[in-house]
Amino acid sequence: MLLGRRAAAAGSRRLAAAAARAVATRAAQQESSGHAAPMAAAAAAVTAAGFATVYASDDVVHPAKQDWDFNGYMSTYDAARCSSAAPRIIAPFSVGAIPHFSASPPHPLSPSPPRSIRRGHQVYTEVCASCHGLARIAYRNLVGVCMNEDEAKAMAEDKDVMDGPNDEGEMFERPGKLSDYFPSPYPNEEAARFANNGAYPPDLSLIMKARVGGPDYVFALLTGYKDPPAGIEPRDTQYYNPYFPGSWIGMPAPIMDGGVDYEDGTPATATQMAKDVCVFLAWAAEPEADERKLMGFKVITALTVLSGFMWWYKRKVWSTVKHRRLELY
Ligand code: HEC
Repeated sequence: MLLGRRAAAAGSRRLAAAAARAVATRAAQQESSGHAAPMAAAAAAVTAAGFATVYASDDVVHPAKQDWDFNGYMSTYDAARCSSAAPRIIAPFSVGAIPHFSASPPHPLSPSPPRSIRRGHQVYTEVCASCHGLARIAYRNLVGVCMNEDEAKAMAEDKDVMDGPNDEGEMFERPGKLSDYFPSPYPNEEAARFANNGAYPPDLSLIMKARVGGPDYVFALLTGYKDPPAGIEPRDTQYYNPYFPGSWIGMPAPIMDGGVDYEDGTPATATQMAKDVCVFLAWAAEPEADERKLMGFKVITALTVLSGFMWWYKRKVWSTVKHRRLELY
């Protein structure tokens, strides 16, 4: 922890020094043109150094940055998934290799299917769902992402959902439907805390957005359980995890090697499971991310073409004005 903090402090010193150099150079260049620019640069440098210092002085180990498939501006979850905009066209190809997912054989040109989301969903349902809800995801959201419609329906039907009132004003239970949202494991926060020694297992729907570092943090947390350092007594209902603020977390280490049996034969090591569940939760926090990126790509492309045209048109419109000869006597 100390090492990490020292490295981070050294990092922030380097940052501050670089910023100061930038300010000095800028100031030298700008001697004649007033003080606004150097002042702005100085303010930016002080702000950057301030942020770096606050980050470095955090009392936690900072998670390592991981190379997530979906991090780039143009990259999608686990290299591919069928867009719900065109599921009929793409789905048979892009998801063909998932067992039981589609009858068509994998297409040689198809991108790799979103298997990590499917495995992550399995980890979530078999391991995390006993304590954590995922209230913002409905069964229908899984269709075309990590399951086909029949699988999602069958899964929903396994759950009893309270519905009603019926004609007689009574609430009744019925099997789940695709439009139902994932059930939460506890009826309310009090029950959840009571079952977990006072700690509250948060709903995981938006956890990737709700924590600094997102998937990097959750991955580090899930794989970061350690024995407490020498001289520190273990506690009864809390577990030592240096990635959690305060280092003691109320969640017992949820995953260990062989915790699930992956249907695609991937070895279920703890790191593999942590990675898969992070990919699944990242998707759950922003199911529309792939479509957002595709839309962004289209808009930028259209604007680029449009700006070329506008440039040409502007020259055409102004040409009569710009080539006019003014003679003043
Ligand atoms: C035995 C119940 C239990 C299981 C199983 C469990 N958790 Fe937790 N989890 C908790 C509790 C309790 C907390 C709250 C801990 C605290 O606040 O000290 C928690 C907290 C968390 C947090 C939030 C940490 C933070 O920064 O606040 C994340 C993320 C998390 N769990 C992910 C998972 C994932 C992913 C799985 C499945 C691989 C999982 N949990 C399985 C009980 C559980």
